[in-house]
Amino acid sequence: MTGAHSTSGEARARPATPLRETARLAAYFTEQKWAALLMVVLGLGAALAETLGIGLAVMLLFALLDQSAQIMEGGGLLARLYGAIQNVFGASASLIAVVFFMLILFNALLIYAYQLMAATMLNLVAERLRDMVHRQYVTVGYRFLQQREHGELIHTLATETWTVSGAFFSIARIVVNMCAVLVFGLGIFALSWVVGLTALVCAVAVFALLRLLARPVRRLGQETLEANQILAERMLVSLTGMRTLRVFAQESYVLRVFGSASSRVRRLAVRTERIKALIGPLGELGSISTLIIIALVAKAAGVDVPTIVAAVLLLFRLQPHLQEIETHRMALAEMQASLRNVREMLDRSDKPWPTEGTLTFPGLAREVRFENVNFFHDPRRGPSLGDASFTIRRGETTALSGPSGSGKTTVMNLLLRLYEPDSGRILVDGADLNDFTRASWLSRLAIAGQDVELIEGTVEQNIRLAAHDATIEEIRAVCEMVEILDDIECLPDGFDARIGAGGLNFSGGQRQRIGLARALLRDPEFLILDEAMSAIEPAREDRIRRRIAEMMRGRTILVVSHRSTPSIDADHTVFVENGRAREAARA
Ligand SMILES: Nc1ncnc2c1ncn2[C@@H]1O[C@H](COP(=O)(O)OP(=O)(O)OP(=O)(O)O)[C@@H](O)[C@H]1O
Ligand SMILES: [Mg+2]
Repeated sequence: MTGAHSTSGEARARPATPLRETARLAAYFTEQKWAALLMVVLGLGAALAETLGIGLAVMLLFALLDQSAQIMEGGGLLARLYGAIQNVFGASASLIAVVFFMLILFNALLIYAYQLMAATMLNLVAERLRDMVHRQYVTVGYRFLQQREHGELIHTLATETWTVSGAFFSIARIVVNMCAVLVFGLGIFALSWVVGLTALVCAVAVFALLRLLARPVRRLGQETLEANQILAERMLVSLTGMRTLRVFAQESYVLRVFGSASSRVRRLAVRTERIKALIGPLGELGSISTLIIIALVAKAAGVDVPTIVAAVLLLFRLQPHLQEIETHRMALAEMQASLRNVREMLDRSDKPWPTEGTLTFPGLAREVRFENVNFFHDPRRGPSLGDASFTIRRGETTALSGPSGSGKTTVMNLLLRLYEPDSGRILVDGADLNDFTRASWLSRLAIAGQDVELIEGTVEQNIRLAAHDATIEEIRAVCEMVEILDDIECLPDGFDARIGAGGLNFSGGQRQRIGLARALLRDPEFLILDEAMSAIEPAREDRIRRRIAEMMRGRTILVVSHRSTPSIDADHTVFVENGRAREAARA
């Protein structure tokens, strides 16, 4: 399902690598460059301190064994270093020990600072990415989200944003470790070029071997990602469909499908780990072989013992750095698919964006006119609204009538700017609807719909969505109007009662009445009722309808009805059939 994502032209031109993906994502973090640099400097400092420390450790060892003469005899870097230390601190072993200790302490402090920095950065990057992806979800064209699997969207938001910050961390670790390898390597070369060269040849061989492992890990990474998205989708189905699944007694089916998605994630993870776990032992094997080869070569070349000991110690310390580089390279290979997903999600160029007008909507003066409006939910399915032309006049109640699936809700969604016409125009007092800012237009509108979109939270929070600063008296007043106040007050928690997932804690008619209360709380100039009372008994519906008509007198109402005869209290009816709209002759 991820493979189908469109990729930008640039992405097609050059094969994506984890490094390139991360570099593109790094473009969102230009202000944090200094921090990345500081991290590398700290890591480099720690490696330098450690290299010096190892030199000192060898001196200390030989000084304690009263074998310092051996160092001087050997000549080379170690002897020069020892000479310099003797000049400054004297020949005492305890003084060398003190310097050694100070150096190690300094190193420890550097490492601590580095860790703090890394943790801060890691979390900062994760937060920024999470917020950016979330912003994208909240502001992108509604159509884009409708076409996506929610499991996939949740996985990207909740998990993959962490993966990306992990990728930045991995790259920083690779750079730091490469610096360390460079410092240690130079140290070894400075001690003895014979040892240095031998080590280099061996390291290249070991790296080439480990490289072979990256390809299967990358492939497994992609598979793991898809498996995780499917698992997230299954979780969502089990939660959002809990009622339907139970009433159709589908528990065992759900358990089976979930179980198999879950075990696929495990199997893939184990397979990945099986390959990744090879890095350690293979690296170990490589480094021990390297050490043996070096010892043999160095002995044959007549390198002195203290130099060999120092070089071998450096090599020992170098090996974990090489191994860490390999581990992070492997992790990056595994992350590649996630990196691409997050990058694609953040890409603005290939997504639909709602048009944001510049004018402030001053209020409806005359009419809203649909002019040859075409809209396709999906081009393969034909128009959901085809060439629709009709007028909604200010101060009137317009009924939108037509069979199920004819395009009534689509008309409402266009008015609410969830969608935009594919062709044709919606004119508001002669101006294009899109010329007005969404906020100023929507602030004068309110809708109560057929599937009341209650969100998780309390009753009060749901009603307040329409007007955050409404007083509790105002809320109670609208609740009374739509006859939901008594129902709410009977609840143990009253207005603080939880709506439940999908509004499941309330009956269908109660949900619709809460939705109506919410729409009326906005005190709108233009009220849209999309079968907002389909689950309410006729007598009550009549009472509520009369109160709404009273409250909205002189204002505009658009009301959807299935009935082919014009709704009694409508001034005007628009018939919609197969996406085509036709206006009834006005009386
Ligand atoms: N998200 C969507 N994706 C694809 N097609 C859609 C989508 N929403 C609606 N449609 C299609 O668009 C057409 C018009 O749908 P719409 O919801 O506007 O009908 P309606 O008149 O409100 O029907 P009802 O009276 O049943 O509510 C239908 O054929 C429907 O299948
Ligand atoms: Mg509808």
